[in-house]
Amino acid sequence: MIKLKNISKQYHMGDVVINALDNVSMTISRGEFVIIMGPSGSGKSTLLNILGVLDLPTRNHGAYLLEDVDITELGDRELARIRNRHFGFIFQSYNLFPELNALENVMVPLTYAKRPKAERIKRAEELLEMVEMTHRLKHFPNQLSGGEQQRVAIARALANKPTLLLADEPTGNLATEQGNEILSLLKKLNEQGTTIVVVTHDPKVSTYGKRLVHLQDGKIVSDKAIEQSA
Ligand SMILES: Nc1ncnc2c1ncn2[C@@H]1O[C@H](COP(=O)(O)OP(=O)(O)OP(=O)(O)O)[C@@H](O)[C@H]1O
Ligand SMILES: [Mg+2]
Repeated sequence: MIKLKNISKQYHMGDVVINALDNVSMTISRGEFVIIMGPSGSGKSTLLNILGVLDLPTRNHGAYLLEDVDITELGDRELARIRNRHFGFIFQSYNLFPELNALENVMVPLTYAKRPKAERIKRAEELLEMVEMTHRLKHFPNQLSGGEQQRVAIARALANKPTLLLADEPTGNLATEQGNEILSLLKKLNEQGTTIVVVTHDPKVSTYGKRLVHLQDGKIVSDKAIEQSA
């Protein structure tokens, strides 16, 4: 589904060049649940943002193939279309719209996709049911707990049936129990067919995934299957 071939990301700060990603190659297949770990500054968010086409690799370094199309060759409008069609994002800070209630937040990506209103409401309700938020449809973000806000954010990320769900520290702001609920939810979504990549600092998170990738200094230093405990 996704192939990164020798991707690099350099930042220039005055005379200093930072190699946030250094010649990274990886393949993500349909149905995977990949956990990305590594020290602070090792390039995890950079890699996730490049995977989700929120950011592009440094030019003339390698290729990014999405279903065999090299997206590094595309223009801004095509990239935006690919982002909306293929990727769902979940962030540590939820990033909900404060002036919209739970239902309206989930409807936002459906609005971009120009679906009729009745269909948008129905689909948003179904998504919120899936994340067990049916009892809070009219609540605004500041009337929801952190875990509830993250469940709304996950429903919103799934609205356009993304090919790949990307999460950067999705449990970083949550208490352990709420964090575990979110991880169980991601695990359930993966079992139902959603391909997922999660960045985390938390070693416990790796027990939920199927594959663990370790980054260090912008390089993949290990990439292996996670033993599933029954
Ligand atoms: N916009 C930027 N300009 C310059 N340097 C940057 C920029 N974004 C990231 N970096 C640098 O690139 C490196 C990788 O950053 P990245 O955010 O990917 O790390 P991370 O692994 O996600 O860390 P953390 O666990 O702290 O979130 C870091 O050294 C960071 O300082
Ligand atoms: Mg980060």
